[in-house]
Amino acid sequence: MATDKTFFLETFGCQMNAHDSEKVVGTLEHEGYRRVETEDAADLILYNTCSIRDKAEQKVFNRLNDYKKLYKQGKRFAVLGCVAQQEGEKIFERAPYVSIVAGSASYRKLPEMLVQLEAGQKRITGLDDRQTDETFETEFTARTNPYRGYITIIEGCDKFCAYCVVPYTRGKERSRTSTSVLNEARRMADSGYTEIQLLGQNVNSYLDPEGKQSFAELLAAVGQVPGIRRVRFMTSHPRHFTREIVEAIEAFPTLCDHVHLPVQSGSSDVLRRMNREYTREQYLERISWIQAAKRPISLTTDIIVGFPGETLADFEQTSDLLTKVGFDAVFAFKFSPRPNTPAITMDDSIPDGEKSSRLQALLDQQRETQRAIYNRQIGSILEVMVEGHNPQKGQIMGRSSQNKTVNFTNSQLILPAPGSYVNVLVTQGFPNSLVGEAVTLQ
Ligand code: 5AD
Ligand code: SF4
Repeated sequence: MATDKTFFLETFGCQMNAHDSEKVVGTLEHEGYRRVETEDAADLILYNTCSIRDKAEQKVFNRLNDYKKLYKQGKRFAVLGCVAQQEGEKIFERAPYVSIVAGSASYRKLPEMLVQLEAGQKRITGLDDRQTDETFETEFTARTNPYRGYITIIEGCDKFCAYCVVPYTRGKERSRTSTSVLNEARRMADSGYTEIQLLGQNVNSYLDPEGKQSFAELLAAVGQVPGIRRVRFMTSHPRHFTREIVEAIEAFPTLCDHVHLPVQSGSSDVLRRMNREYTREQYLERISWIQAAKRPISLTTDIIVGFPGETLADFEQTSDLLTKVGFDAVFAFKFSPRPNTPAITMDDSIPDGEKSSRLQALLDQQRETQRAIYNRQIGSILEVMVEGHNPQKGQIMGRSSQNKTVNFTNSQLILPAPGSYVNVLVTQGFPNSLVGEAVTLQ
């Protein structure tokens, strides 16, 4: 009987959500549920939602409407993730056929929730909000990729940037012990993983509950786990970005040549109103540490355009900061007012058309910057981790330590397996990818 319970899970949002889903899948499987590939084949349909931007909650409600008829067929529904936490019991009002509403800070209680569901209970909630000090750790994580895996080192966020829902949807900051992180890294290495991505909304706010290791020390320790060839970490907050982190990257080649450091705006005035806790100058100082490193470290960032009160002069400061730094990639978004956040009460009077043209101007500028950066790599030999093949184009796809996409050909007859590492001579550069030829197979 137990083996006959099936579930379908769909995930939206960031890497934290993607990884939460891997843990949720592992937990469900441990509870006797079997994952299926279609909603049709499932008894339980789970929907892991994101509410970072746009009208996310509206999209969720629209989707839930579609489920009405499936409920009549006996299927049950769980809404997880940030929209679940944000909207809470309101979801039951608008979609009475939903049985479980749970935010990420409550996932460790999923087994209990499943028991309640099976007992026929309705309106089961896991809405821990900012109450919990616990993290969601499970040995049953069902990782989707067999050679690159995530490890959450810190959950939640205490930063309260004026525009951001995360402190309300993911609870307060709580770090895992370095012992438990390292044990997980060793277990992963033992089962064949060579790349680890350490995750957290603010990875560098990491505070070891055992007091053993700083974030930089933890990075170094994960980088020294035998078998691990690449370590990445996401997302760093500029306020807590230390020289020690750069020194760790310099000292341990397994730590990838890449830092994602969201700046959000190039104007100190806007940064202050965003409650980012750093100025333009302080941000640029951190960039100078990274750019002075012994190895070239790629830099990527996030930008919000059209934050309430952003003047043209503020915007030009952002554009100027992009020129000064020369980022390897920029993820830029139009400001979107989010429920519960302080910015929702601010004067969001910049017309949408103006936000769009500022966004477009940044993207155009950035494309040219990237064209130059990617072209500069022509002639260099990069170590690439193979991700897949494109038989139509006869190309192998992979990623460099700097996190750049590399498409390459291989004159040797063997096709390198996904997860293997190949040295590639770069022959061409595009704004978002490199092209090359394999020089040795390792
Ligand atoms: N509006 C627009 N962009 C946002 N981000 C977060 N909240 C908002 C918002 N309300 C962006 C930030 C963040 C990235 C994950 O999403 O740039 O770094
Ligand atoms: Fe979206 Fe933020 Fe939640 Fe990730 S943490 S799913 S980005 S709202």
